[in-house]
Amino acid sequence: MISDKIRDVLNEQINKEFYSAYLYLSMSAYFAEIGMYGFSKWTKIQSKEEIDHGMILFEYVIDRNSQIRLAQIEPPLFEVKSPLSVFEQIYQHERSITSAIDCVAQMSESDCDLATRNFIDWYLKEQIEEEAMVSRIISKLKAFGEEKSALYLIDRELSHREYNQPVY
Ligand code: FEO
Repeated sequence: MISDKIRDVLNEQINKEFYSAYLYLSMSAYFAEIGMYGFSKWTKIQSKEEIDHGMILFEYVIDRNSQIRLAQIEPPLFEVKSPLSVFEQIYQHERSITSAIDCVAQMSESDCDLATRNFIDWYLKEQIEEEAMVSRIISKLKAFGEEKSALYLIDRELSHREYNQPVY
């Protein structure tokens, strides 16, 4: 059993992961609208992974004999200036998720809930990977993204991403 405080913060994190899925899915739609199908595929796959992140938390809360409290998911908000600007917003978003995960880790430690502290390690590592992956795309867009032909090649590269269900 986990404390009410930990239950609540894990439920909040489920909401953040599902919001992330919504955000990436709406970005995927934007990229499809402007004909950038590689970017669209990449963000759609990321959306699926965010649902997986939410579901791993969901199963954990149930396994700990605690309660799921699903809350409303806010409409996804982002500005659609350019692929670079969208990826910069993704980076900021992922940084905010990293901070939220850090807080879950700290709270579980101060609550002497070592099982949750151990569980959340997977998310800490996942966030390092996600920030690095997005940061690399931003670097490429900054270096070459002004050129339409380079943007086309980056789009093609992103289209090679395949969905791999995250293994916890
Ligand atoms: Fe589930 Fe992108 O953090």
